[in-house]
Amino acid sequence: MPKLLRTSLSLLIMIICLGCTAGPLPEATRLRNTSTPYPLATKVPVPTLIPTATVTSVSTLPVVSTTVASTATAQVFVAPDFGKVYTQTAQAKLTALALTPVATRTPWPSSAPALRDLAAKHGLYIGAAVQAGLLAKEPAYSDTAARQFNLIVPEYEMKMCIIWPARDRFDFSASDAIVQFAVDHQQRLRGHNLVWTDCLPDWISQGHFSQADATAMLKQYISAVVGHYRGKIQYWDVLNETIDRPPVWQSLIGPDYETLALTWAHAADPDALLFYNDYDAEVMNNKADRIYAMVKAWRAAGVPIHGVGLQAHLKGPIDYASLAQNIARLNALGLQVHITELDLPQDDFAPAQDEMQGQVYANVLKVCLAAKNCPVFVFWGFTDKYSYLNQNTQVFPLIFDQDYKPKPAYAAIYQVLGGK
Ligand code: XIL
Repeated sequence: MPKLLRTSLSLLIMIICLGCTAGPLPEATRLRNTSTPYPLATKVPVPTLIPTATVTSVSTLPVVSTTVASTATAQVFVAPDFGKVYTQTAQAKLTALALTPVATRTPWPSSAPALRDLAAKHGLYIGAAVQAGLLAKEPAYSDTAARQFNLIVPEYEMKMCIIWPARDRFDFSASDAIVQFAVDHQQRLRGHNLVWTDCLPDWISQGHFSQADATAMLKQYISAVVGHYRGKIQYWDVLNETIDRPPVWQSLIGPDYETLALTWAHAADPDALLFYNDYDAEVMNNKADRIYAMVKAWRAAGVPIHGVGLQAHLKGPIDYASLAQNIARLNALGLQVHITELDLPQDDFAPAQDEMQGQVYANVLKVCLAAKNCPVFVFWGFTDKYSYLNQNTQVFPLIFDQDYKPKPAYAAIYQVLGGK
């Protein structure tokens, strides 16, 4: 069965099944931005099963047993051997990762463990993008960042337009502040990012450079930045979104700029793990296939690539079996997979949207926990007050509300991590 037809069929089944939920969601009344706590979440009808991922055409690969990663509320059936995209007549069944929303207690009892405490028991680094200015001036922001996460990533302070304002000047002041915060709070760091089409300093975007010049410049930049943070940053997004949005370096240096960048980064800090990071490639799709083929070729050629970051700027529920399959095939290449920029905008406030947001976050986390090598799970921000998605209107995409109160999404993540 052609892939497009199979996918459409799965989606159709999913839509039919999702319409099978037992009755409307209970009308909860929660006034946003008030001191009243979230109401005790009444039991939301458990969604029906995500349809069995019926696949057809027989693979030459043996039917593999599924690995069950049981969690507090549901089981994730993930066939371990997604090393290759394969189809089989067997029904690969994914139980709906339904959650019974737990009450979000506001304020969250200070005696309760934080996300980082629970995550550590799973060997997971749970993190968030942070801003240096907010860490410095907003105690609720810095306290929450320190207490909840065992990994942080600069939201923009470690990008080229900030760090390299002039050819003869590097400015590490803002990024150093974030690195120091991580050191002070025993947190790991993701370095983000070294090569990206956006956030290019004007002197580069408006300059004219020979191939030799441009090659020397990018090598100088990567060597200087990765060298500056040698031993402090465990993971680098060396290449960000380049497969579909090639930066100026491609035309200046040539098609090898990506592998050169990875090689220079590795030379500057051989212990750092180097990533390719991108969006809209979380599930099995054309872009994910192209990324898979690219990193597979790099691995085969001995290029220092150690992982792929799935940004996960989501717009709603996704095909969790397909996400698991994509992660598994990348893991099968010997690569780590990180969820690097998770957020999920809610186009308007409604309790049902909050619960859906929580279930999507929880389901993505369950797939990550069930995967062979998905040790890092990062939100792109953590409070609705400061999401980059709040451009013209607030979209409430994160796990704390604008008053730093835990949302149902926090409670859902907390529950998946084993919090009571
Ligand atoms: C965004 C930041 O959140 C903003 O503060 C900044 O102004 C622009 O960049 N994918 C990425 C991130 O890889 O670097 C982007 O971050 C969001 C999309």
